[in-house]
Amino acid sequence: MKIVIVEDYKELSAKGARLILDTVKQNAYAVLGLATGTTPLGVYANLIAEREKNGTSYAHIRTVNLDEYKGLPADHEQSYAYFMRKNLFDGLNIDHENTNIENGMAADEAKECARYDTLLQQLPRDVQLLGLGSNGHIAFNEPGTPFGSGTHVVELAESTVKDNARLFADISEVPRKAFTMGIRDIMQAKKIVILASGANKAEAVRKMVRGAVTEQVPASVLQLHPDCTLIADKSAASML
Ligand code: F6R
Repeated sequence: MKIVIVEDYKELSAKGARLILDTVKQNAYAVLGLATGTTPLGVYANLIAEREKNGTSYAHIRTVNLDEYKGLPADHEQSYAYFMRKNLFDGLNIDHENTNIENGMAADEAKECARYDTLLQQLPRDVQLLGLGSNGHIAFNEPGTPFGSGTHVVELAESTVKDNARLFADISEVPRKAFTMGIRDIMQAKKIVILASGANKAEAVRKMVRGAVTEQVPASVLQLHPDCTLIADKSAASML
């Protein structure tokens, strides 16, 4: 794993955006794997600002997102589909038909997971952006998830529900289940960029980079990826 330690969140966001842009500029038809959560917000703001300045086109870019809460429709303000439109897609000239995310309202879970896995095979990702959970999760693959997993429905760990409660009016509103890309799916991306910011990620960063490769720390699997870059700010990297 390539490790890039930066001063602060601003630098992390600029460096992360640069790596995504390199892919977009090399291939106008690139497939981007995208993440939600707080960490990539700065990267997305940089991509929008860069497009406004230089007119970079996303007309043919395709995207696949990591995960979606189960039970939230795409127009729900807390859904990840909504998050992506608001924080990225609406600021780019991307064709919404080319953006993909699990359907949180799908009644048949198994069918939805199979549909998404088929889609991931049809759209091999040139780059996959990831955030890191404080418990070491990637996407919503919580500790204990098999490394061979494809898209599946998860029961969110209590720590994840608590971490995500800050974005909801009340913790009781946080969905307890989600659709998520599996670890096998994530590892299939040609290139992976994982972002970590803040002291509350320091322990997870240490375990991911220096610890044993174990299903108890899902992000540790990234040690096995041939082209994975971690961008961490000083606080997140403080235990390395
Ligand atoms: C988001 C996702 C999660 C987050 C992780 C970190 O699509 O899959 O794994 O990346 O929970 O979240 P933040 O960035 O909010 O700390």
